[in-house]
Amino acid sequence: SFSALSQPNSVNMAPVPMFPINVGHIDDVQELKKVKKAAIPERFVRDVAERPTLATTPCSPLKNVPVIDFSKLLHGNPNEFHGEILKLSASCEDWGFFQVINHGIDLSLIENIERVGMDFFMLPLEEKQKYPMAPGTVQGYGQAFVFSEDQKLDWCNMFALGLVPHFIRNPNLWPTKPEKFSETVENYSKEIRKLCKSILSFLALSLGLDRDVFEEMFGEAVQAIRMNYYPACPRPDLVLGLSPHSDGSALTVLQQGKGSSVGLQILKDNTWVPVQPIPNALVINIGDTIEVLTNGRYKSVEHRAVTHKEKDRLSIVTFYAPSYETELGPMPELMDKSKPCKYKRYNHGEYSKHYVTNKLQGKKALEFAKIHPKEAL
Ligand code: OGA
Ligand code: NI
Repeated sequence: SFSALSQPNSVNMAPVPMFPINVGHIDDVQELKKVKKAAIPERFVRDVAERPTLATTPCSPLKNVPVIDFSKLLHGNPNEFHGEILKLSASCEDWGFFQVINHGIDLSLIENIERVGMDFFMLPLEEKQKYPMAPGTVQGYGQAFVFSEDQKLDWCNMFALGLVPHFIRNPNLWPTKPEKFSETVENYSKEIRKLCKSILSFLALSLGLDRDVFEEMFGEAVQAIRMNYYPACPRPDLVLGLSPHSDGSALTVLQQGKGSSVGLQILKDNTWVPVQPIPNALVINIGDTIEVLTNGRYKSVEHRAVTHKEKDRLSIVTFYAPSYETELGPMPELMDKSKPCKYKRYNHGEYSKHYVTNKLQGKKALEFAKIHPKEAL
């Protein structure tokens, strides 16, 4: 049962199972494709209602994730700045997602992280398995969020590392191959951290708040990186690359690998809208934390990944969240008579634990914080 997992490790808040949980046999999806004429194992075949309907009609331009020109926020004249701030707030209210262009992050960092990520996934299985993601944990190589033998599996291999604060690091999980892996992750993550802080300050301004509110509230923000590798799949109509979920973070920064297939989809007005990759852009999304802090004004939107028949796909994902000690709840400035409080106050460490000890299931994790109208009476 899930309660078997809910014992946080006192050192780093990382959940560790109190006793082994039985997740059954998990096939490595990269190894599956090496087997000739392989049928999709039953554990990957989704129930009919969950299967991705593969879009055949092109999306209208109105159905595209908004694009934010970061250079206008950093160096624009007052008109450009104001226009971009308005666009930012509309994106967060209507989409919960936006793509950032001209973010100022060195292209060599963008390319390097992709290269070491791809090189890592191309290593022999035995090499990657030196860094196993233990059942019920979220760092290392494997499949996260699997808690039972009968749970459907995602068509994806993950490799994840906690980065900041330092005590969440597990040095045994830092790969020695590819050679430049660790150094590249460090360099990339430092720059992404600056970007997250900068985006949060613009989000604050877009809400009419002091630009440093989030920064001051979060303390030493938690940062983690996860690389998702989705091999090509002979039956993309039957499987999911990544189950529908919203992110438990404050902000998520997602880099889509060059030449990767289109795979990320977000739930917008009840339809799954693909996020078309823009070269060198970063995809940003609002996580559960910002949804709670803004009392639901900025949305943590449900998303998933689908696979492709011929092409594989790599995504590099950074999660940026408040320190575990942070107490969260809707900010007073964003509540009034017409906008009553929709979420309770809670500790972010508790929420984190709740998030990582349950399977990914749409926006279910956020139920933890919801005040239902009945209770609010
Ligand atoms: C995630 C995520 C989507 C993708 O890792 O939380 O939503 O395209 N990834 O890999
Ligand atoms: Ni996500």
